[in-house]
Amino acid sequence: MVPWDGRGALGGGGGFPHRMIMEIYEQPKALEDTMVKEDDEVRRVAEIIDQRRCELIYITGSGTSYHAGLAGGYALSTLTGMITSTIPASEFESWIPPSIPRRSLLLAISQSGESSDILEAAKAASGRGIMVVALTNTPGSPLAEVSDHVLLTHAGREYAVAATKTYTAQLSILYMLSLELARLTGLAPWSVEELRASLSSTPRLAREALMMNDKPIEGLAYRFRQSNYFFLLGSGPNYATALEGALKLKEACNIYAEGFAAREFLHGPIQLISGGTPSIFIAAGEDVKRLMRLALSIKGFGAPLIPVSDRPEGLSAVSQEVVRVPGGLPGIFSPIIFIIPLQLFAYYGSKARGLDPDRPEKLRKVVR
Ligand code: F6R
Repeated sequence: MVPWDGRGALGGGGGFPHRMIMEIYEQPKALEDTMVKEDDEVRRVAEIIDQRRCELIYITGSGTSYHAGLAGGYALSTLTGMITSTIPASEFESWIPPSIPRRSLLLAISQSGESSDILEAAKAASGRGIMVVALTNTPGSPLAEVSDHVLLTHAGREYAVAATKTYTAQLSILYMLSLELARLTGLAPWSVEELRASLSSTPRLAREALMMNDKPIEGLAYRFRQSNYFFLLGSGPNYATALEGALKLKEACNIYAEGFAAREFLHGPIQLISGGTPSIFIAAGEDVKRLMRLALSIKGFGAPLIPVSDRPEGLSAVSQEVVRVPGGLPGIFSPIIFIIPLQLFAYYGSKARGLDPDRPEKLRKVVR
């Protein structure tokens, strides 16, 4: 268990043994700061998007930022009815048509604002006359310079190679933007005010997720320290959580982990399941019922199942040991909270394997 004062960022290391765990614990504060400090700018950019009558939103990023883009695209299209297309930054230019309709927009997501792939993607969009909105943690970065508008996450500098606090802060901006566009277009299927209130509860829920999971996840990670293959299954916006959780395990634990859209797993990959392939089953709200048959099949093939859910009571048929996340958040925003136990699992898994979670040997913080 790490020392923690229950409030979030402790500053100056705060007694945390590694940057990665310190940054995981800084998330409640990063969410709070981002939502408070960027509110006006999100409203301003949303108005510009609305005035231009944008119909298509391209979203791009790499690695963790791409995963934020997937979850953000889900929220944007669900709440505003706009068409979104999320493309990895390194593939962006080759996947878009030579002439993009002018009423489209590119949301370019990058923690550092320096990755070469995102810069190329932003330039390709600008070259075709498309408005570029950067979402970055680094004001004044090259990405900010080449973009028409900039939305900032206020997560503080991220030192650990594995991105954690900047991911959830990126999600918070994408959700704020979705809500503001939903308000302006009047197309939201639910009450925007109620959704806004839910979103503002995420710093508190993130704190709860940390407090209830730290110790149990440390034990779980230690028990699975000899497993070298993990599958992570998630649905809806938590497909992004499955991909991001798998990426954290690869980076921090140096093991093979793959994320899937839950039922895609049945279309081939389930052939690989065995007692040696623990499967992390991410089930928010109604997904517990909807995906139960899949969970039972995996269990039937003898694979250890680790459910992560806000409805643990519904999962007793597949596991006695459910990783709990606090409930109360609409599914659309749930990736902010569901990723937290998976970040902890990657951190403690790294320690349990005798690795340095802050220094994966083959990785750099910025890919140039
Ligand atoms: C994951 C990670 C990388 C970055 C990716 C994009 O933990 O650190 O996958 O997310 O290289 O970096 P940025 O967001 O700086 O463009």
